[in-house]
Amino acid sequence: MQITERFIKLDTPRTSLIFRRYDELLETVYYGQRVPDAEDFDILSSHKHKYAHSCIDDIVAANMTFSCYGMGNDRKFSLSVKNHDGGYANNFLFVRAERAEKPDIDGLPSSDGAAETLVLVYEDRVYGLELRQYYSVFDDTDAVAVSTRLINRSEHAVVLRSLASCQLDVDGSGYEIFSYCGTWARERYRSRTVLHTGAFEQGTCRGSSSHAVNPFLLLRRPARMGGYLAFNLVYSGNHRECVESTAMHTTRILIGMGDSCLEIPLGGGERFHTPEAVMLFGKHRRDIAQQMHRFVNGHIVPRRYRGERPVAVNIWEACGFDFDREKVLAFADRAASVGAELLVVDDGWFGRRNDPTSSLGDWTDNEQKTGGLRSLAEAVRAKGLRFGIWIEPEMVSPDSDLYRAHPEYVLRNPARSPILMRDQLVLDLVRPEVSDYLFGCIERLMDLCSPEYIKWDFNRVITDAYHAPTLAGDAYSLQYCKALYALLDRVLTRWPHLLIESCAAGGGRYDLGILRYTPQVWTSDMTDPVERAHIQEGTLIAYPQSTMSAHVASEVCVKTGRRTRLCDRFALALEGVFGLEYDITQCRQEELDELRAQIAFYKNYRDVLLYGDYYPVESAEEGETAVRVVVSADKSRAVAEIFKLKQVFNREQNRYRLEGLNDEATYRVRIYGQEREFRASGRLLNSYGLELDAYFLKDRSGVYSNEINTLVLAIERC
Ligand code: GLA
Repeated sequence: MQITERFIKLDTPRTSLIFRRYDELLETVYYGQRVPDAEDFDILSSHKHKYAHSCIDDIVAANMTFSCYGMGNDRKFSLSVKNHDGGYANNFLFVRAERAEKPDIDGLPSSDGAAETLVLVYEDRVYGLELRQYYSVFDDTDAVAVSTRLINRSEHAVVLRSLASCQLDVDGSGYEIFSYCGTWARERYRSRTVLHTGAFEQGTCRGSSSHAVNPFLLLRRPARMGGYLAFNLVYSGNHRECVESTAMHTTRILIGMGDSCLEIPLGGGERFHTPEAVMLFGKHRRDIAQQMHRFVNGHIVPRRYRGERPVAVNIWEACGFDFDREKVLAFADRAASVGAELLVVDDGWFGRRNDPTSSLGDWTDNEQKTGGLRSLAEAVRAKGLRFGIWIEPEMVSPDSDLYRAHPEYVLRNPARSPILMRDQLVLDLVRPEVSDYLFGCIERLMDLCSPEYIKWDFNRVITDAYHAPTLAGDAYSLQYCKALYALLDRVLTRWPHLLIESCAAGGGRYDLGILRYTPQVWTSDMTDPVERAHIQEGTLIAYPQSTMSAHVASEVCVKTGRRTRLCDRFALALEGVFGLEYDITQCRQEELDELRAQIAFYKNYRDVLLYGDYYPVESAEEGETAVRVVVSADKSRAVAEIFKLKQVFNREQNRYRLEGLNDEATYRVRIYGQEREFRASGRLLNSYGLELDAYFLKDRSGVYSNEINTLVLAIERC
């Protein structure tokens, strides 16, 4: 970090962010590849008097570090305050830049292990408000963590109406914006928009980061500048991302929590601190993925989860609610015999839950089904497996003892009936007695069967966000998130080795906030490998393989009806935290042998598969083939996967190029499941590509869908 009279420069290992001071105003003048300290940065900003309020266009075009009404800038604002006199016009002047400790954010998770933190301090002297922007950098990733704090230093109460975590103003327009959108069982499909003039906005008010639109946002800069910008938010609630480009060829990016109808009272002396955002510049798309992955693995997911993640067998897709002790033990037998490490009993083990209409909230053992959870867990462990269980703590069924005893626990506006979804209501987690009740339930469950793993589900959206007239909408979402994080923290403080997998009807809460507590997420309820190829590609650009749960499911997908081969389902599951989710009790010996070999392969390459550097070489969104490679840090081992998503007769693509291998090294390449093995230099693998079409196992029986055909290459340095 370099702070001089005119410039403030913040460096990550490979990028620099530079601000220029104009008396009491600050401008962002550079964000890109790392540059030396000693340059003449005046060349980055020619408008010496940009802020002299002499020319309207200069003010409009200024690359500000934050914005609010009252400063002459007419774009979307990062900050809006209703002052004590009822007005909305503020003017914050830059006071100083200094090194600081990375701040804790009140009640919210944030990244750890920063190398240094810069704070920029501004004041609105008329209204006694102070604004502090924190930028933290790390030794091992180019990600920059940004958060903003507003402090009311006056004696008067004000009302905060919005405050973005991060504002980045950059030059140029015509940015290509990639967002990751979808719905249940179709999460994080890439969506592309090119923005010349006007605004692009995305976000959600569903009470979780949502299936609809992930907070991760990727921008490709116009060709003249090159490179990519990426953003994310360490937050699981309502969020909003906005990109605005002007005719002056400037672009503003705002990242933050949702702020619709937001009114947060801030008394004299009180402060508000936003969730933490992350921003990143990368020259190539792969840099974005790799640097984000490093940030998540190194600074978001707690270090104690860095080790192996067990291979799970989950009974949900095979059984639904229809299982009993015998069935679970039959699964456990098979799971152990193929080398799995964890058996997960999903929904349906508690209360009177035999369908989705009852019992959420009554977290008591249904002994008729389980034969007693304690002994069931022991029997599973006796087979050499860990025991896992599903819960959905934040919800309640109207048909439950909990609801009958405490209807007041439900989240609702008392003037209205709450909206029922999936036959369930949401609990008002902000009430301490609700959180205590849930902790008690989890404590009893832990005492009963000591699960090593919990799948923590959240199967509907929040539609009735209301705790009090002043705590509704997006303000409630914030408090709800804080209560959720506090509960997770309480559970994990008590049972620090518990592995929690987050789930929200699949991937409806896949974000950096939840990953601070739960190191892996059930990516999607969609288990069809053709769909998963897209869902996983969209996920992996933002989140590392170690966070992405991926299971081999049944031959005929229960949702799409598509029939696919085991080898192709295996190839997709290999991309993340591997598991099985179909009726393995019905498998023939041949299939069990194949599963055993697949799991052995996964275990052998687990470290590189989960933590290796990720190279998205070809995108499923841009062609008929996806090529992705994961490479160990020392480049001695790699796994490459090629997914053909469309078979065109008599027109082969022929060559498949890989990335990430050491040009100077020689590798032994084994085609998984086949005898074929060959040697090749890293340079050959990385550059010209291999003619591999002959090795795709073709199936012309018509039994299987031809929309997916995969090849897995295991690569070892000689
Ligand atoms: C959600 C999850 C599934 C399963 C069911 C149980 O849909 O995503 O994996 O746990 O709930 O009801």
